Amino acid sequence: MALVSAKEMLEKARDGKYAVGQFNINNLEWTKSILQTAEELGSPVILGVSEGAGKYMAGFKTVANMVNGMLECLNITVPVALHLDHGTYEGCYKCIEAGFSSIMFDGSHFPIDENVSKTKELVEVCRKKGLSLEAEVGAIGGEEDGVIARGECADPDECKKIADLGVTMLAAGIGNIHGKYPADWPGLSFDTLAAIKKKVGDMPLVLHGGTGIPTDMIKKAISLGVAKINVNTECQLAFAAATRKYVEEGKDLVGKGFDPRKLLAPGTQAIKDTVKEKMEIFGSVGKA
Ligand code: 13P
Repeated sequence: MALVSAKEMLEKARDGKYAVGQFNINNLEWTKSILQTAEELGSPVILGVSEGAGKYMAGFKTVANMVNGMLECLNITVPVALHLDHGTYEGCYKCIEAGFSSIMFDGSHFPIDENVSKTKELVEVCRKKGLSLEAEVGAIGGEEDGVIARGECADPDECKKIADLGVTMLAAGIGNIHGKYPADWPGLSFDTLAAIKKKVGDMPLVLHGGTGIPTDMIKKAISLGVAKINVNTECQLAFAAATRKYVEEGKDLVGKGFDPRKLLAPGTQAIKDTVKEKMEIFGSVGKA
């Protein structure tokens, strides 16, 4: 199946009260693991690509070609969207050009009027090309690709302003942060989420910072309108831990040469296990 926009899968998730996972990709092994797990579980999936990861993988065109090749060669039949994560204004245009099927424009650090005008322009461009567009209000805290932001709670009126522009989905800060949550994290602000939902109606909401949010909070967020949940750090931690263990046990190095396929196999399996666990919690299994 060719890449699809995230619109239909998110509307189905919103109506069915589950969430589609966005799993960020960093290399071929991650991409293949995520696609194979989604296919095995019959789950729709969104592959997230940060601008840093796009650069690492030799550019957005390389990424789009790699993903399209895998969809064909691995016989992937579940719906897959290739999505720019936290895109800059310029990055959005590069990904549209490269063949991504979904774009996130993160204008949350701009004054609201500038966020509105840039998002409005991109709504039109994406609409013409049949791509889905995610916008953001209220910076998500933590560090991603070297960009550090505080966890904010978005202003529901500003959320409405952006939602009314016709975006496909809205990421709104509700105290969530990227990376690991600190021990004194007060949890998600469900009051903020409910107030945003009231203002934006049917708009599918996106929860960033999916790593380390307790399952009960995830489920409550889904019940309040979250239809997409982003996960990155948890896959990174699982991949690193499994690779480190393998190397420390010396399995790859002595007498067997330095076959990268063997070296990366445990980490690859760890990503599959993490993605499966998340898809089960998000309720997307069998929903393709
Ligand atoms: P985590 O790294 O906390 O899982 O967040 C991922 C994310 O929100 C990507 O946009």
